Amino acid sequence: MNPSERAECDRLADSVNALLPALEQFNRFDGPDLAGPERTKWHRVLDQPLPEGAQGLEAVLSDLQRVVIPEGLRIGAPGFAGWVTTAPTTSGAVASLAASVSGAQRYWVNAYNLLETIALRWLCELLGLDPNFQGLFVSGGAVANLVALGAARQHAFEQLGIDPARDGMPEMRRWRLYASSEVHHAIFRAAGILGLGRRNVSLTPVDAEMRINIAALEATLDHDAAAGLVPVALVANAGTTNTGAVDPIAQLVDIARRRKIWLHVDGAYGLFGRLDPRIAPLFDRVEEADSVVVDPHKWLAAPVGSGAVFVRDRALQERAFTMEPADYAEGAMVTGEVSSTFDNLGDDYLQLGPEMSAPSRGVAVWAILKEIGADGVRDRVARHCSFARYVFDLASADERLEPLSQPTLSICCYRYRAPEVSEEALDNLNAEIAQRLRMEGIVPSTTRVGGKYAIRPCFINPRTTSVDVERMVARTRAIGDALTKDGRVSQTR
Ligand SMILES: Cc1ncc(COP(=O)(O)O)c(C=O)c1O
Repeated sequence: MNPSERAECDRLADSVNALLPALEQFNRFDGPDLAGPERTKWHRVLDQPLPEGAQGLEAVLSDLQRVVIPEGLRIGAPGFAGWVTTAPTTSGAVASLAASVSGAQRYWVNAYNLLETIALRWLCELLGLDPNFQGLFVSGGAVANLVALGAARQHAFEQLGIDPARDGMPEMRRWRLYASSEVHHAIFRAAGILGLGRRNVSLTPVDAEMRINIAALEATLDHDAAAGLVPVALVANAGTTNTGAVDPIAQLVDIARRRKIWLHVDGAYGLFGRLDPRIAPLFDRVEEADSVVVDPHKWLAAPVGSGAVFVRDRALQERAFTMEPADYAEGAMVTGEVSSTFDNLGDDYLQLGPEMSAPSRGVAVWAILKEIGADGVRDRVARHCSFARYVFDLASADERLEPLSQPTLSICCYRYRAPEVSEEALDNLNAEIAQRLRMEGIVPSTTRVGGKYAIRPCFINPRTTSVDVERMVARTRAIGDALTKDGRVSQTR
């Protein structure tokens, strides 16, 4: 107890216990989700002026219990299958609570620092990556891709005798990054941040299965090489966000090797698909890439804030992300015998990415993998890929539903259709259906496939069962029927 400090530094058990009933209740996902429709009610309670005087821990716990937790975000609810996100399961949630109390930074010689390394090693092994890859946890897939492309940029320009991290981008050269038109938009932003420029991401068209068209890519690479453009990286999608397509990785490895270009694989969502034997061959030779990204906070359902990047050449990655030495950092370390926790940084992640202070993220990944084992992850991934195939089968068998993408991973895009409704009106109709589904707590997201408005469930949620999948499809059909029957949608072709 520090008498001059107003923040409570003790009473952790009391405080956590006070919140547990509300958290348990939240995780039952009972009743309708009213956080959106009734937002003015709880905005009013929470949106207060900065308090001048201390209101105390009780006031905080009370708001958390009464308002914040009940009005939280239901992305873990069984009916949620939107975007590529979900809520943590229990072991990940409690591991991250433990870390926020007793492992508040990932550095120095302590159990959490070791678990960063172990979790990265386990992930590498689980996904069949090269054990010599250097891994790093970052906040998510966007930052993981930024780190990988930072290393790729370093590689490309060092080959020309230029150190872009030290000297910036050369004036007299032009360059390109190569990816398919289905690439995640985080790649463009990474290109912007790295000074490569969003406009220098060259997009290759995709084939009917939404995979990069290899012949078109080769033609672009030939053309650009003849024009003297520096190829910074080929980006392979190992699971596109839109439809879950996996680019032909083995062919891209060959192209990258032959042309001496860095191969980066964005498997933020889809790399776990390698664990389903039905589609594992699609990921063959991914371990030969120069960098690979995978997000534990997606299919592994780790708490959000957990992406992982693996880079083959650690020394290069360090040159890309090095910081100037500082007496208060490196100068404060000792080498040799560790006589105190703070003698050195432990397994050192400081120079490998953009973050300095960073939470211990490995502990949650370690907890999940220890709890369910490699087998539990394989089982989940296969179950979710089967859900997508199930949606495809259900939609194919129903004359008023239409699958719009053949599932590769755990996404199946589909839509409601009716012969009497025009193609243009179908887009609005499906948008309306999706909105009504959301009001019922059934939450796929939506997208466009081949220009058509699609309902897009993406199954990574551990709480979803086949009953939820059937319900989503059945309700799509029923809502679509009701909307077309009451004449709200154009009946003319
Ligand atoms: C393929 C892919 N890459 C990158 C990202 C960005 O990941 P994050 O949202 O974790 O930053 C996503 C997100 O869905 C993704 O699907």
